[in-house]
Amino acid sequence: MTVRIAPSVLAADLGRLAEQVGEAETGGAEWIHVDVMDGHFVPNLSFGAPVIRALRRITDLPLDVHLMVERPEQYIAEYAEAGASGLTFQAEATDHAQRHLAAIRERGMRAGLALNPATPPDLLLEVAGDLDLILVMTVNPGFGGQSYLPAATAKIRRIRALMHDAKIAASLEVDGGITLATIAEAHGAGADTFVAGTAVFGAADIAEAVRALKRACLSRV
Ligand code: DX5
Ligand code: ZN
Repeated sequence: MTVRIAPSVLAADLGRLAEQVGEAETGGAEWIHVDVMDGHFVPNLSFGAPVIRALRRITDLPLDVHLMVERPEQYIAEYAEAGASGLTFQAEATDHAQRHLAAIRERGMRAGLALNPATPPDLLLEVAGDLDLILVMTVNPGFGGQSYLPAATAKIRRIRALMHDAKIAASLEVDGGITLATIAEAHGAGADTFVAGTAVFGAADIAEAVRALKRACLSRV
């Protein structure tokens, strides 16, 4: 199975963003994860379109944008223009997930749906044909540096089985508390794409941190 590492710039030193993203790229990172927080859906504020635009100039890697915001539909056009490659929003933030997934695809981006730890996965079946990516939150969103919730492993496994049964050919991404100690467990449960903030940008050697996360996955297959 593919292993894709998506370092989250939430944990980067923003004064050295270009340099640190370059180091992650050197280490073999496949995507760059960008956490957008609005202070309402989650109790924290982070970045918006200007940072996505800046990242688009810094790197050629796909920008994997994660919206932790209310009314995600109001950002689709602007973030497409800013250079997002994929746009993932939280299922809990809207009653119209299908409509917004379709709108994201129409704008040429990968359409993703994120589930909070307490959100049951069955709703994925209702939008199976509109999904390019499923993001399983392995912490409650809002902050970097939290611990992986142990219950997430069984949920990843259930979602992988559901994807198999319903023939959903999407990426299965996990986000929150992914470290050298937890990545193999999430991978073993069926995740193929791994967001890592602190574990990458908190390391002294960023490129080596990306390589080590990949090794930790592959050593357990
Ligand atoms: C959490 C964000 C994550 C965060 C992960 O709300 O969605 O992407 O940056 O950070 P770590 O890897 O430090 O848990
Ligand atoms: Zn995220």
